[in-house]
Amino acid sequence: MNMILLGAPGAGKGTQAELLTAKLSIPAISTGNMLREAMRNGSELGQKVKKIMEEGSLVPDDVILDIVADRVAQPDCEKGFILDGVPRTLAQAEALEARGIKIDHVVSIEIDDAVIASRMTGRRVCGKCGASYHIVANPPKTEGICDACQGELVIRKDDAPETVQHRLDVYHELTEVLKDFYAARGKLRLVEGNQSIENAFQEILKAIGENV
Ligand code: AP5
Repeated sequence: MNMILLGAPGAGKGTQAELLTAKLSIPAISTGNMLREAMRNGSELGQKVKKIMEEGSLVPDDVILDIVADRVAQPDCEKGFILDGVPRTLAQAEALEARGIKIDHVVSIEIDDAVIASRMTGRRVCGKCGASYHIVANPPKTEGICDACQGELVIRKDDAPETVQHRLDVYHELTEVLKDFYAARGKLRLVEGNQSIENAFQEILKAIGENV
């Protein structure tokens, strides 16, 4: 089961990827999380992408493709994987196909831009492990502390309102076209994102033919 989660920034891709990982026992591969981890570690990659990510633009395709190709070749991806936030451009989707990375399902989480702003202002992420929360929809057990690793929860730099608007513009300009790309291949399923996390999860499971 190799699947892709598509959707605007804040649509809930990361949230649903975590739930799918727990249910299906296959890893979620979030290029955003991998790049943020590289920034936290201060690696060469992290330094290279820091400014681009903080301003909400896209990291170059070749950088992304190398990271993804390495990751899906790991043994834990043998039974499948969930791509969260990748591909993000037509060039990335075509390159995955050209490299023989087979995709069974593509789920696009649909949500109006107007809902995104409140999603982003309420988001908190763990500064240590990257886990994501929402102060109302998905709060941690203890305010400001990560349930998983007890790290401190922080606000993502690219969740500033003006940066969120730029990320939405980038999504509409470069990423949304992927819906047509995968629809033409008979892989695309649309799921309503503006509903509770649990209901969206149930809808995704149905869309990929899994028992709810
Ligand atoms: P990335 O980390 O992928 O960010 P994004 O796509 O902008 O998506 P988000 O993480 O903001 O949102 P999400 O859809 O995962 O929503 P979440 O579940 O967190 O990318 C960041 C940057 O990295 C990019 O800008 C780019 O620079 C670079 N990058 C990454 N991949 C790249 C690529 N392939 N190519 C080039 N550059 C790349 O939910 C959001 C909030 O809402 C959370 O607080 C959550 O708790 C809450 N929430 C979720 N679902 C619900 C619900 N149903 N109801 C209420 N609240 C909800």
